[in-house]
Amino acid sequence: MRLDKLICISTTLTRDEATRCILAGEVTVDGELITDIRCQVHTHRDIRLNGEKLIPRPFRYLLIHKPKNTICSNKDEAYPSVFTHVDLPDHSELHVVGRLDADTTGLVLATDDGHWSFDIIRPESHCKKTYRVGLSRPLTSDAADRLRTGVIFQGITEPTLPAALEFVTPTEVLLTITEGKYHQVKRMFAAVGNRVVALHREQIGEVRLDIQEGQWRALTADEVASFVK
Ligand code: URA
Repeated sequence: MRLDKLICISTTLTRDEATRCILAGEVTVDGELITDIRCQVHTHRDIRLNGEKLIPRPFRYLLIHKPKNTICSNKDEAYPSVFTHVDLPDHSELHVVGRLDADTTGLVLATDDGHWSFDIIRPESHCKKTYRVGLSRPLTSDAADRLRTGVIFQGITEPTLPAALEFVTPTEVLLTITEGKYHQVKRMFAAVGNRVVALHREQIGEVRLDIQEGQWRALTADEVASFVK
């Protein structure tokens, strides 16, 4: 982990304040003065700020129920951030694991553990995500079969990976995919001549959405471990 990040997760300092401490020569790693903020360090090294040993706090793992018209960034932009209601100190250190569009609602995972989130989103992990999808017109059984088998996006030669699709009504389906291309679900339905009018993520891996819109909770240890292969 970068030295400035390690200082942030061991203190209440912001990234800018941590940078200033490093540049001012206030930080040592195993007794050696370090002034490079990008220096990579392991948490078990002896890292000191003005002589005081830093103990990183444990990583945080969250489930957030994202409301419509929020964004999965840590800063408010065109819409408020999904972290607005996360009343934790230093939530600027958290990041979302697999973003949703502003108009998509539902399950978002967030953490400050970059290795954990990387393992979930890297394409080889084939992590399952289930979406409840509202459509502008009834989905034909032929289109449903094409979605299950794999459709081709414009400009891409590889079809989407096989998906599970279940009808709730002719205009509402549950879709489970194991990849996460940009605007994947909307593009899949566009590829079969339909249009997504409502999109809600219900599940990632074994973790299901079980809280009200706008709320958040910590993941249980079992939920965190369920993503570790
Ligand atoms: N696919 C989309 O098109 N949008 C999302 O927000 C998530 C998956």
